[in-house]
This record gives sequence, C-alpha cells and structure tokens, in this order.
Amino acid sequence: MSSRPRNGCRALPVFLGALAIGCAQRPRAAALNPPALRTAFHGVFLVGAALNAAQFSGQDTLGAAIVKAQFNSITPENALKWASVHPRPGTYDFAAGDRYVAFGEQNRMFIVGHNLVWHNQTPRWVFEDSAGRLVSRDTLLARLRDHIRTVVGRYRGRIKGWDVVNEALEDDGTLRRTPWLTILGEDYVAAAFRFAHEADPDAELYYNDYELERAPKRRGAVELVRRLQDEGIPIAAVGLQNHDRLDWPSPAQEDSTIDAFARLGVRVMITELDVDVLPHTSESNPFGDGLPDSLQQALARRYAELFASYLRHRETVTRVTFWGVTDRDSWLNNWPVRGRTNYPLLFGRDGRPKPAFAAVVRTAPTRERRDD
Ligand code: GLA
Repeated sequence: MSSRPRNGCRALPVFLGALAIGCAQRPRAAALNPPALRTAFHGVFLVGAALNAAQFSGQDTLGAAIVKAQFNSITPENALKWASVHPRPGTYDFAAGDRYVAFGEQNRMFIVGHNLVWHNQTPRWVFEDSAGRLVSRDTLLARLRDHIRTVVGRYRGRIKGWDVVNEALEDDGTLRRTPWLTILGEDYVAAAFRFAHEADPDAELYYNDYELERAPKRRGAVELVRRLQDEGIPIAAVGLQNHDRLDWPSPAQEDSTIDAFARLGVRVMITELDVDVLPHTSESNPFGDGLPDSLQQALARRYAELFASYLRHRETVTRVTFWGVTDRDSWLNNWPVRGRTNYPLLFGRDGRPKPAFAAVVRTAPTRERRDD
C-alpha cells in the first residue's frame, strides 16, 4: 500500500496530524484526522504536558514530536525543582532549566515553572547548618529568598506562571508539618509568594495541591487563598493536580471544588492530570501485557467525564496539563508500587493515541460555540 496519498501530502500518523502542514486544511484530511488537543480546545483552555529531560533535550524525538503537535503549554516534571536546580549551598545548575525554557520558546508554548517551595525533592541542607542542626527562621527565610529570586529572576518574562507553593496542606486542611512550617511558621506561604512577585511582577503565581476535592482539605485551601488575598498577595490561580482514579473524584466533587475557588475570584488550572487504572492495595501487575479493551473504554469514558466537568467551568479553568506525554513516561509505573505497567495518559507506550484521546477531543466545543 502506498504511503503517499494522491494529493501529495506525506502520510503522517494521525496523532502527529498537526505536523502535516499544508495538508491539515484540506477537507478530506481534516475529516480523517481528529484535531490536535490544542486545536480542539483553542479559545477554551490551554492543554499542556509535563516534560522530562529527554523530551525537551532532544533524545526522545517521538515524545517531543507529540508535544509539539498536541500541546500549547509545558511544565517541567523535575528540571526546576529545588534538588535539581540548587543541589548544594551556593550552587545553582540551570543546564536542564535553560533547555526546558528554550524548548518552550522555540515551540511557542505557555511555559510553567514547577515548583519553588515543597517538602519533597528539597535537599536536607536547606534546613540545616553544617552541624546538622535546624537553622533559624532568619537563615531559612534568607535561603528561601535567595532561591526564589535566583530561579524566578533567571527566567523573568519567559516563564509565565509559577507553582510557588506545592502541597502545603494535610488531608484535614491544616498546614502540613514540614520543616518549612516548623522553622518559618505559618506565614512562609505568603513569604514565598512575595519573593516570587518581587522577582517577576508579571508572572502568574499559583498554589498547587492534590485531592482538594476532599472537603476538609478544600476548606483549608480556600482559607489559605483567602488569607493571601487579605494580605494583598497576587495569587492568580489554584492548581488542582488531579492524579485521579477511574472512580475518584466524582464529577460532582470536581464541580464543587472548581466552584469553591471560582467564588474566590481565582482561576483554576488542572495541573497534573492522569488516571490510575491499577489497584492501589495490591503489589500485582495485572496488565503487564496490555490493557483489556473493557478498561480501555472505561478510561475513555472517565476522561470524557472529567473534561465535561472542566468544560462546564470554562470561565474558570484556563489550563489542563497532563502529567506526562505517553504511558511509558508516567510516574504511575513506579508509584505506589515500583515496576508495574500503568496506562494513565492519552498516548500509549508506542506514542499512538488511545481511545481516551478521541473521547477527550469529542468533548471539545464546536468552533461556533468556542467563539461564543
Ligand atoms: C506531585 C508533584 C509533581 C510530581 C508528582 C508525582 O504531584 O507536584 O512534581 O512529583 O507528585 O510524580
């Protein structure tokens, strides 16, 4: 069979359809190729992916091609976390961060920074003196300020939005007991936002967390945002990570969570979307040889249901970012159990779109409705 159609366009895999420049406009090709995610949701919200170093540095050419064809926003999976960028006192390493930002600029992406303050992937030295004792509040505040000014300042005007504080809440909605809280006290969240705003007054600043769909934690986040707003701190959005499962959260929980933040006047971004299809309570690897069709279809329905919820709140939800590009890249192959085979994203291990991809695209409003 010839791979060269009569119209002279080189046949490209459907999922890289947006690369078929000059072909995509022709009616027949348009009918055959589902639009790319970023095209389907153009004018509704940005659609992004978290990238690993192989994708933005050029080793994973398939992954990079999917990103360029499908997405219009990127988040670094690890490249800008404290441990990567500031591994030792006084030593910053921007090699990966610079490549990440250059990739985003070359491909005209909305570039997100992730993250500035977290309790994970932060070296111990940040909180300790040379004898291993916890440092004073003043010392830690100075370290935090130096870190944020250096990292945000380096990409000023180029990284458009920052996850300033990540996962600061316990499940009960109180502030998480971390060295940040122990040493700095409750106002460390506000301090981090202030330092980020000083370093780049035009960058959007976000608070990012998981399972805010659970009422106690959501109430804590609403309080946190209110306090920041009362202090005049410019918080632009709350990031809902959405590391979801096939049966959690329910659409009603998602709707009420987005509504709760919309009422505060902040935007909502879905920042780390994936859907875990494996049992959490077992070590077994039930789908090592492939996902049964029934589950493939269940995943597609689940994604359609989630996107329907985001679309009901399209005035509030301004970005939906997947945590990874293909199933091969996903952290869920190694969490909560190492070495399992998971299927949480829209593109399979071979880079091909799964039924969930088409299901998501089908939820997109028509062009007329997008322009409403
Ligand atoms: C959290 C973090 C992310 C990432 C994921 C799991 O959600 O915000 O940076 O580490 O966990 O990979």
